[in-house]
Amino acid sequence: MCGIIGYTGHREALPILLGGLSALEYRGYDSAGVALVGDGICTVKRKGRISALREALATVELPTACCGIGHTRWATHGAPSDGNAHPHGTARLALVHNGIIENDGEIEAFLRQRGCDFVSETDTERAALLIDRFYGESGGDPVAAIFSAVAMLRGAYAFGVVFADFPERIYAIRQDNPLIVATTAQGSLIASDIPALLAYTKEYYRPDDGVLAELTPRGVRFLDAAGNTVTPRSERVDFDVTAAQKGGFPHFMLKEIYEEPVALCRTVRHYLGADGLPRFEENGLDASFFSRFARVHIVACGTAMHAGLIGRYVLEKLAHLPAFVEIASEFYCREPLLHSDDLVILLSQSGETADTLAALRYAKKKGVSTLAIVNVVGSSVAREADAVLYTPAGPEIAVASTKAYSVQCALLHLLAVRFALCRGQLTKEEARRICDTLVEQMPQRVEQVLARAKQIERCAGMLQSAEHLFYIGRGVDFSLCTEGSLKLKEISYIHSEAYAAGELKHGTISLIEQGTPVVAVVTADHLAEKMLSAIREVRARGARVLLIVTEEIAARLALPCDDMIRLPAADVLCAPFTAATVLQLLAYHVAAGKGLDVDKPRNLAKSVTVE
Ligand code: M6R
Repeated sequence: MCGIIGYTGHREALPILLGGLSALEYRGYDSAGVALVGDGICTVKRKGRISALREALATVELPTACCGIGHTRWATHGAPSDGNAHPHGTARLALVHNGIIENDGEIEAFLRQRGCDFVSETDTERAALLIDRFYGESGGDPVAAIFSAVAMLRGAYAFGVVFADFPERIYAIRQDNPLIVATTAQGSLIASDIPALLAYTKEYYRPDDGVLAELTPRGVRFLDAAGNTVTPRSERVDFDVTAAQKGGFPHFMLKEIYEEPVALCRTVRHYLGADGLPRFEENGLDASFFSRFARVHIVACGTAMHAGLIGRYVLEKLAHLPAFVEIASEFYCREPLLHSDDLVILLSQSGETADTLAALRYAKKKGVSTLAIVNVVGSSVAREADAVLYTPAGPEIAVASTKAYSVQCALLHLLAVRFALCRGQLTKEEARRICDTLVEQMPQRVEQVLARAKQIERCAGMLQSAEHLFYIGRGVDFSLCTEGSLKLKEISYIHSEAYAAGELKHGTISLIEQGTPVVAVVTADHLAEKMLSAIREVRARGARVLLIVTEEIAARLALPCDDMIRLPAADVLCAPFTAATVLQLLAYHVAAGKGLDVDKPRNLAKSVTVE
């Protein structure tokens, strides 16, 4: 949700800013801009992708500057336009912003009373002019100006600011929004996320909320609001720049789907002890933790919430632990009743999703235990939860989440096994057998699905021209359908709905007409006969059915369909994983076949840092 980058050092800033913006473009891509600081501030910004900004830059005479800031936007206040693009500011300063200022109306009124006028519709311009006002009042003190301004702001933000009077400096501050800072021999950088820094360093700082970073070519100092120097802990990523590149694939999404077998295997191995059983002691979760809870609430958004549905299924099935799944934004708005023996699990790839963060804070306020499962090390959700388990999926760049979902499902399986052991629902032998299957067989079966990609691509042709379609399943297959449907919608722009197969006849079946495609997922053996009825019902009304079914069920039961994708024969535990990969590939090939920008679907952004 907007990407910010800044560089001050010994090299020309512009190529570094543009490289950083390209690495952050997944965060927002409706406009982009840069401000270069040299003899004054030169700002260039354009509606559209970074390619449009590059074209605009080629038409202007630019100063050679070794300091600057850049921004790629996901519009919140005001439509995507040249005028609303960042940076914003005055002749004295330029500001880039990720987040939302909630009291921008108040700030605007305050500034208007003092004679200010505005040229954009953005909250960011209000913040920039506020800093400018205090800069003037303080006699040109950037630190005092920024602290005075942020004291008046409500909302979430990460700011990067440059001042014409201090052409070597960048100031950066955050509140509930991601921002990292790095220093290298070449200079100092700020960024919204790690991929923008990987070409220069693997080490970075993540300043706390309200801590101001002052960057110069020689290093960085961090100040709290009282003016004290503080030292954030330095962090290090364990992947390199190639992990954030396409590596020969046409899209990040496809590359990330193909990374699933390795990511799944790595995740399961990471949490297995020498005895072949799940171990979470290193993460501070011992036997007393797993015997403490009577209920689990899994709270997340979008794809992560759908992984939670799979988690609910295994927690209830394996551990006999009541589990509830809730959309994060509803969780904190609905204000559910929580008990002291409840556990709230927050699932998030980015760990920066504002709704998930707000849900976490709600749970903490209610005094219940919180456990984060996140992919990005050191992210806000990870830092604020009582405990954290990381999913070692590696960076996920495509807006549509794929491998992060699969590894979240795998980790939730391991947690369910651990709960089951503590609650006496599984013997060690039974638990070990499940874990063996997850670490050995499951990634191999996902690999086999990838080997059938050509067939999946052919089946995608059946959905490509549809305007509406349905995904139907029962039990865990319905949970899989929710994710399959979301994947298709977000990248192909085809309207689809996931329906519990048994519910269709209670109203929605009226939408089925001659030729309506229906994707039926059938991996749960004990529900296959009931799915047969649902498939017959929709076919009788003209639906064309694409069946996704396990080899075992297909061999036992003749399910009528127009085309079929068989999931490789495997232990039943593998089916959610193989089916998920099929559904992801299906959505990918529909969107790619339509020639759409798969990695950057319209209106979306990877990391949703506004509520
Ligand atoms: O980073 P998070 O996992 O918290 O993100 C949650 C959702 O915004 C995310 O899964 C979204 O639904 C994806 N675009 C789905 O592909």
